[in-house]
Amino acid sequence: MEPELKIYKTQLEVAEKLASRIYSIVEKNDSKGDKTFIAVSGGNTPKILFNILAEEYREKINWSNTIFFWVDERCVPPEDQDSNYGMTKKFLFDKIDIPEENIHRVKGENIPEKEAVRYSSEIDELLKFKNKFPNFDLMIMGIGPDGHTASIFPNQLELLRSEHVCVVGVHPQSGQKRVTLTGNVINNSDNVIFLIIGKDKAEVVADIIKQRNGFEKYPTAHIAPENGTYEWYLDENAAKLL
Ligand code: 6PG
Repeated sequence: MEPELKIYKTQLEVAEKLASRIYSIVEKNDSKGDKTFIAVSGGNTPKILFNILAEEYREKINWSNTIFFWVDERCVPPEDQDSNYGMTKKFLFDKIDIPEENIHRVKGENIPEKEAVRYSSEIDELLKFKNKFPNFDLMIMGIGPDGHTASIFPNQLELLRSEHVCVVGVHPQSGQKRVTLTGNVINNSDNVIFLIIGKDKAEVVADIIKQRNGFEKYPTAHIAPENGTYEWYLDENAAKLL
């Protein structure tokens, strides 16, 4: 399944459009009294999106009906500068009125292998299931220049097909352990959206979209929601080789 590409001139415009898309997904559920189960990624790119959600959707979105999880988390304490939870708290949660119980962080301070099991159980308990896997409403993904997504790196493609909900991934350069959702869970979502910004992503974006240069080595090339929408939101810099 190929992603629907949505390309905008500036990173701010991309983030604005994605925030509006997220609002429409949440609002559609909220209007029926349903909660929206969202898994977000970490790193740097989401910061601009979280800023817009906090500033422009603070009063628009019914945050009491949005339930947050992480696509992946570094195995560090929440106050560590590497923590994806810590980044999301700083750029989003601290600026909106969201109940604490709606935030389900990976406990990066725990033993990784045990935390992967614990987090999997937490997700199993709270989410509805589809095709034998937990079914998220929305997955906000990022991509590394090496084509990794979540914390599934090119040397760990087997994590895409794991039968587990969460597993431990290892950053190939730093050796840092991470708890990550597996490909089966990501692909079981109703809406999978990548936010891709910057010229350092242009090469891998073109490789995957043009299916060239051994693109199958990239974990991102194997993301294809079976029964969901699949979109890439990009700025012109990230899309410049398309
Ligand atoms: C993480 C992310 C990871 C991220 C990419 C892109 O924990 O690092 O979940 O998958 O989305 O590495 O990161 P940037 O947005 O910093 O480029």
